[in-house]
Amino acid sequence: MKAFNFEDLSTPAFIVDLDVVKRNCQNMIDMAKKYDCVLRPHMKTHKTLEIGELMAPSKKKISVSTLAELEFFANGGFDDILFAIPITEDKLKRVKAIHEQKDVSILVNTVEVLEILEDCNKPWKVLIEVSTGYERSGINVEEEAKISKILSRLLAAPDRFTFMGIYNHCGHTYLRNKDSTVEKIEEMNKETVAKLKKLRDHLEDQFEDAAPIFIGTGSTPGCGQPVDEFGELDELHPGNYCFYDYCQETLGSCKEADIGAFVLSRVNSVFESYIVIDAGFLAISKDSPELDFGKVLAPNDDMFISGMSQEAGKLKLKSGDFDLRKDFNNQFFHPQIYYDML
Ligand SMILES: Cc1ncc(COP(=O)(O)O)c(C=O)c1O
Repeated sequence: MKAFNFEDLSTPAFIVDLDVVKRNCQNMIDMAKKYDCVLRPHMKTHKTLEIGELMAPSKKKISVSTLAELEFFANGGFDDILFAIPITEDKLKRVKAIHEQKDVSILVNTVEVLEILEDCNKPWKVLIEVSTGYERSGINVEEEAKISKILSRLLAAPDRFTFMGIYNHCGHTYLRNKDSTVEKIEEMNKETVAKLKKLRDHLEDQFEDAAPIFIGTGSTPGCGQPVDEFGELDELHPGNYCFYDYCQETLGSCKEADIGAFVLSRVNSVFESYIVIDAGFLAISKDSPELDFGKVLAPNDDMFISGMSQEAGKLKLKSGDFDLRKDFNNQFFHPQIYYDML
């Protein structure tokens, strides 16, 4: 077999270290097993059938965040898929078409949205989305009356709806404050489990027929600091861990050696105080500006991304002392970027 050579690749190129990815996926499977939780990995980070199967070897129980992902994974042989954003009317036809052939669960956060669900040849599988602190689309977990109202409506129409449980995405574990990150995330995990349990107890008291009520939470930073209390949960649903990235490393979710992907790029212009590479925000993403959009791996680790346009990235040195060397390999991020000065 011909030896692999980075120089043969056209850039920007997304490079995956499959051994690292396999290890990351297995470690998360083992972690979920330890706490006797179902692992429902999210597919949004990699969007590939191959990594999907490493994360969910049974090809069942996955989450997606777009219609394109839903159709891609369903047509690629996956089943029991959670469409993990609140459903809206425009998306119903396509979600329904997949649900009629496979099992799709949907998230709701209002009672009104249940009325727009069209008739289907089988009941809609519904989870109620709550928030234990992230405050994106989940109902505040303490708003028990609002949550009870939705559950009551779901249980009243078993021919139209099957209640699947309570879903929480603990996105607030992406801390922007670097103080005692690991301890803080552990604390958040404990608080999240306590809040979900309280809600479950309340709902089970109120709706005995719905018991046992299924509760789940997950994010990669949260699952990076598992706590004993996870044993109280039914499901964990992280996603980014297949690759991890520099942001996850700074949060303590992984070590640098666990980062399984990076972007290869080439320098296409050199100026006195900066250089330009052929990877811009489409390749790198504008995520984590507080981390300079990622890490440049270079002999000189003083190098950072000072700006990006769609197809170009501008790199400068923090020290201002520009010493361009031939053949130096730099790695930044999202998930991680690597460039080769040829
Ligand atoms: C609803 C939902 N669930 C799970 C996840 C997975 O979290 P992470 O990307 O931290 O692994 C995400 C990611 O944003 C999400 O939006």
